[in-house]
Amino acid sequence: MTADPTIRKAVCPGSFDPVTNGHLDIIGRAAQLYDEVVVAVLINKTKSSLFTVQERLDLLTEVTSKYPNVRVDAFHGLLVDYCRANGIAVILKGIRAVSDFDYELKMAQMNRGLAGIDTLFMPTNPEYSFLASSLVKEIATYGGDMSSMVPDVVHARMLERIEEKNRRD
Ligand code: PNS
Repeated sequence: MTADPTIRKAVCPGSFDPVTNGHLDIIGRAAQLYDEVVVAVLINKTKSSLFTVQERLDLLTEVTSKYPNVRVDAFHGLLVDYCRANGIAVILKGIRAVSDFDYELKMAQMNRGLAGIDTLFMPTNPEYSFLASSLVKEIATYGGDMSSMVPDVVHARMLERIEEKNRRD
């Protein structure tokens, strides 16, 4: 599908296991800049996750419901193939610190080389510069308070999931 130049679409891709307040900040700001923002969850069967892809999609749908121009989807394979199939011309990525930039720049240049799809970087709100899903999961696993780092519904679901896991192990 070729991108419709009258509809400015961007994709915010990621694992979102789980979505954090940092992700939500970027998604909300992107929603003000583009006509349509697709939050695309990578289906990665090799990576062990706290939430299934469907659970992540459900949580994302709930926490982005206040943005009428944001929709949530899942994809597998190359991100650029997903963009081409959906007429998306821009990949939007949040950058927390210089350390993110090194990796993100390589991916952006690779994606541009593969399919001519550009990546735009948006600096995260400094309030969230240290936030990462992996750290939030680790803090929650060891009983730390991560309630200010994720939306309330995600916080509640994480506590439930960790309790379920602890009961099983
Ligand atoms: O939240 P994450 O795990 O940092 O997100 C990484 C993601 C999903 C954006 C990245 O791994 C990705 O785009 N994967 C899809 C496969 C792909 O296109 N690989 C080539 C990258 S140049």
